[in-house]
Amino acid sequence: MTEWGVRLAGIGSAYPAGVLTNHDLEKMMDTSHDWIVQRTGIHRRHVIDGETESEFTLARDALTRALDAADMKASDLDLIIHASVTSEMTCPSNACRIAAALGAGTAAAFDLVAACSGFVYAMNLADSLIRVGRHRAVGVIGCDALSTVSDFTERTVSILFGDGGGAAVFTRDDDPGRGCLHQELGADGTNWETLYMPRRDADVPAWDKENSIRLGCLRMNGREVFKFAVNRFRQVIEDALEATGLGVDDVAQFVCHQSNERIIESAIQKLGLPRDRVHVNINEYGNTSAGSVGLVLDELWQAGKITPGDIIVCVAFGGGLTWASNVWRV
Ligand code: UT7
Repeated sequence: MTEWGVRLAGIGSAYPAGVLTNHDLEKMMDTSHDWIVQRTGIHRRHVIDGETESEFTLARDALTRALDAADMKASDLDLIIHASVTSEMTCPSNACRIAAALGAGTAAAFDLVAACSGFVYAMNLADSLIRVGRHRAVGVIGCDALSTVSDFTERTVSILFGDGGGAAVFTRDDDPGRGCLHQELGADGTNWETLYMPRRDADVPAWDKENSIRLGCLRMNGREVFKFAVNRFRQVIEDALEATGLGVDDVAQFVCHQSNERIIESAIQKLGLPRDRVHVNINEYGNTSAGSVGLVLDELWQAGKITPGDIIVCVAFGGGLTWASNVWRV
């Protein structure tokens, strides 16, 4: 069987116009700008207005821009994967609605739920499906509007998140050395309860039973997720470099989920990553869950810091608990 390569044909992103600063949050809950900056690196985040903007509009706009950058039409796609935990409805998927809105005809379309790991999960899946010849052109979107599931009366979770997303268009390439050189998808469901979104009282795990919570809103045991993230982040990068025989210096950019600046900083220090090759934009957007890796990719692409032929390493981890990584030749 022929093995194909995979070309990153275009990238785009979208985030809402509206901004929620740490000082705005100070008026809504018992927190401070200084605490949020010191513990997370976040200064502000963009949030949807809930009227003209929604998770759907952000995801649709991100893919529209990626298609424009690729000089392609939606009808050129034969698959759309939309990674998110905040699609307005579970049926239909936002992927189907986006396909209809952009005119993607009968392209296959589905939503993928892997929380903050969603974009990298979807990238890896797209690569595999193109590589074996099942699909030719795949639109991948990672997007979330976590403001819609944040309890802004509660300070331990809501300060971390923002709304936004990124998209990429991947196409079949004759060179099998292009695209994913290595990939990993992982999950540890035994720790699901450290990051969850309950719909019913019965969903609430023992550690959270005594707390006053709002159904439908995100809950997190921040310290536990932090420990998981710091360890997993380092491990997947070490594994990726070992599997490909590459060194840190071979990598043009480490494209990392923007979970918390301290988590990224820990990886930089433990692995000796060059600071100018680890792009950080959490100060501006907060943690946008499935949106963050695409947002970073788009900023790097626009700035000319990733160009064809470069090797990049993408890393993400989040609720599930899940993680995903790849080493990718652009
Ligand atoms: O995207 C993937 C999934 N998510 C993550 O990767 C997030 C991982 N976790 C984190 O980023 C951090 O755990 C948080 C930013 C959520 C919290 O930071 P922390 O340094 O772990 O704080 P903490 O929960 O250990 O709380 C320290 C103190 C506590 O007070 P006491 O018990 O020491 O008196 C909290 O009550 O800070 C207090 N606190 C706050 N104070 C002001 C907690 N949240 C706030 C707040 N403002 N917003």
